[in-house]
Formats: sequence, structure tokens, C-alpha cells
Amino acid sequence: MKYLLLITIIYINLNGAYSELLFNGNCITCHKTNNLNKSAPTIQEIQKEYKNAFPNKEEFVSYMSRWVLNPKEKTSLMQDKIEFYGLMPDLAYDENTLKEIAEYIFDNNFK
Ligand code: HEC
Repeated sequence: MKYLLLITIIYINLNGAYSELLFNGNCITCHKTNNLNKSAPTIQEIQKEYKNAFPNKEEFVSYMSRWVLNPKEKTSLMQDKIEFYGLMPDLAYDENTLKEIAEYIFDNNFK
């Protein structure tokens, strides 16, 4: 019983660190936390826009991961950003990876 709890705690920790790595490795090059990068909206802007549209985490994660899987102007929540930066490129990730990243974007407090 003790070990089960320990393993669960380790699992949750690793899982959190892993999704942070996924985000930092794949998204932060374009979606920085400051406005110095003029090639894409900041991650805070995206988080805010998506949380406004989907306060529920499940819906947030579902919509965001599907959108990133297949970026399209028609289904975008940020039309003004497309006009400004152009449509985000298709990065060809699998949906499960994108779900983990979207969960991280929902949960994390970006500064
Ligand atoms: C090569 C640069 C680049 C990379 C890498 C990138 N993005 Fe983007 N992304 C953009 C640009 C530019 C926009 C703004 C235009 C748009 O919305 O399509 C954008 C917009 C978005 C949006 C808003 C979509 C909407 O509703 O319009 C989401 C969500 C998003 N990115 C998530 C991600 C995630 C998650 C990753 C990492 C897996 C990622 N992006 C990696 C360039 C990038």
C-alpha cells in the first residue's frame, strides 16, 4: 500500500515534468512567454483566449489538440493572429502528445 502511493506520486511528478519538456521542446520556439518574438502569439495570449472559449479543461484540451493536429483558419479561435502572423504550420505530431501539451498549457501558470 505504501509503495503504491509512492509509485503514484513519482508517476504524477514524472508525467508533469514530461509534458513541460514536450511544450518547451516543441512550442516555445514560437510561443514565448514574452512579446519579444514577433513570429507568433505568446503562450499567455493563447491560454487566455482558449480558456475564455473553453473554461472546462476537457473541452480545452480536446479542441486545442485537434486544432494543432490540423491547423485551419476556419476552426481558429484567433483569426486576428492569423492575419497578423499567418497560419501556424502543421507540425505533424500525434494526437496523444498534443493532448499532453494542451493539458500542460491549461494547468501551467506562465509568467
Ligand atoms: C513555427 C512556429 C510555431 C510553432 C513551432 C508552434 N506554433 Fe502555434 N502558432 C504559430 C502561429 C504563427 C500562430 C498564430 C496564427 C494561428 O492561430 O494560426 C499559432 C497559433 C497557435 C494556437 C492558436 C490556434 C487558433 O485558434 O488560431 C495554438 C493553440 C497553438 N499555436 C498551439 C501550439 C502548440 C501546442 C505548439 C507546440 C506543439 C505550437 N503551437 C507550436 C506558430 C507556431
